[in-house]
Amino acid sequence: MKVLLLLLLLLLLLLVVVGDAGDEDECEPRSCGDLHNISYPFRLKGDPRINCGLADYELACENNRAILYLYHGSYYVLSISYNNYSMRVVDTGLQPHNCSSLPRHSLTPYNFTNYQDPYDLHDPYGLLYPNDDRILFVFVNCGTIDAVNSSDYYYVDTSPCINASSSPKNPRNSSSNYVVCGLSNLPVDVIKEGCTVELMVVGSTTGSNFKYESHNITTYYDIHREMLKGVELSWSILLCQPCFHKGRQCSVYQELNGLFVTKCFSNCKKPSQSIHCA
Ligand SMILES: *[C@@H]1O[C@H](CO)[C@@H](O)[C@H](O)[C@H]1NC(C)=O
Ligand SMILES: *[C@@H]1O[C@H](CO)[C@@H](O)[C@H](O)[C@H]1NC(C)=O
Ligand SMILES: *[C@@H]1O[C@H](CO)[C@@H](O)[C@H](O)[C@H]1NC(C)=O
Ligand SMILES: *[C@@H]1O[C@H](CO)[C@@H](O)[C@H](O)[C@H]1NC(C)=O
Ligand SMILES: *[C@@H]1O[C@H](CO)[C@@H](O)[C@H](O)[C@H]1NC(C)=O
Ligand SMILES: *[C@@H]1O[C@H](CO)[C@@H](O)[C@H](O)[C@H]1NC(C)=O
Ligand SMILES: *[C@@H]1O[C@H](CO)[C@@H](O)[C@H](O)[C@H]1NC(C)=O
Ligand SMILES: *[C@@H]1O[C@H](CO)[C@@H](O)[C@H](O)[C@H]1NC(C)=O
Repeated sequence: MKVLLLLLLLLLLLLVVVGDAGDEDECEPRSCGDLHNISYPFRLKGDPRINCGLADYELACENNRAILYLYHGSYYVLSISYNNYSMRVVDTGLQPHNCSSLPRHSLTPYNFTNYQDPYDLHDPYGLLYPNDDRILFVFVNCGTIDAVNSSDYYYVDTSPCINASSSPKNPRNSSSNYVVCGLSNLPVDVIKEGCTVELMVVGSTTGSNFKYESHNITTYYDIHREMLKGVELSWSILLCQPCFHKGRQCSVYQELNGLFVTKCFSNCKKPSQSIHCA
């Protein structure tokens, strides 16, 4: 009798263990091409396991490349880092061995709501370290105007990769075309009068000691190579979801020791307004 009971208990235990394993299997990571371990909160579009991952973090898998649709653009996902809630993406218009290929869309800090107001968070994605210095590439058509370098920015000729006159977007009769390289806080007046801005692309975070030389940027080939590295996005706003579910405002930031901290505010928009709120 005792043996039978023991056997029954064992069987029960086994069932429980098997049941648990089954639950884990249910949301096993997916992969798409070179991107492995696509797991919560990410999910692949069309995945029949509707309870795995969040709709806000859906990626498409097209021709074996994971693609993030962001605003008007589409971006190849190069990597996802689950420990620091970040990812690296590159515009799908850029082709590695074709320096004439361009990003399909401008992307600057201003496209992200977290740059304008860190407490007004609606997007599942933001720039990683939104207020840090980044390289910014401003594509301009200056016609026949002479471009001028300064110590803070740099006009780089886009030929022979892109010739102004052959650009269909650009019916103007122009003989020169430049990319102005600077930091993302590039003052507007560095774009010379008469030059038309065609495209603006933000690059990697640079830290404060940015020097073109240290990034080896001297020709347009270097700019193309730099754009191909893509840009780091943050999805740490995910940590605010429990707070949002309570109908509150939230902000999230990373402390120097790497820990992520969320602040959940009562109905007020900003902590400074909390005095006037319930
Ligand atoms: C895969 O992602 C999970 C988080 O969803 C993480 O805990 C795990 O370390 C990752 N594995 C690899 C090999 O990156
Ligand atoms: C970013 O904003 C610019 C200017 O409003 C717009 O032209 C561009 O399409 C936006 N980028 C994306 C990816 O939507
Ligand atoms: C995020 O984590 C990855 C993997 O640990 C690391 O390679 C990367 O440098 C980190 N990025 C930032 C911005 O901390
Ligand atoms: C390189 O990119 C340009 C611009 O997108 C395109 O017109 C051209 O066909 C591409 N060349 C190759 C070899 O793919
Ligand atoms: C700007 O400086 C770089 C590096 O010294 C040079 O290659 C480039 O031709 C200069 N551009 C203009 C418009 O003077
Ligand atoms: C731009 O013009 C140069 C010189 O005329 C030519 O060699 C090059 O192929 C052109 N590039 C493109 C993308 O048309
Ligand atoms: C472009 O320049 C050429 C020669 O300078 C001129 O003949 C032509 O009319 C110009 N085209 C336009 C659209 O201005
Ligand atoms: C710049 O080029 C030098 C020499 O080719 C190389 O050692 C260095 O790592 C490069 N720097 C960057 C940021 O790519």
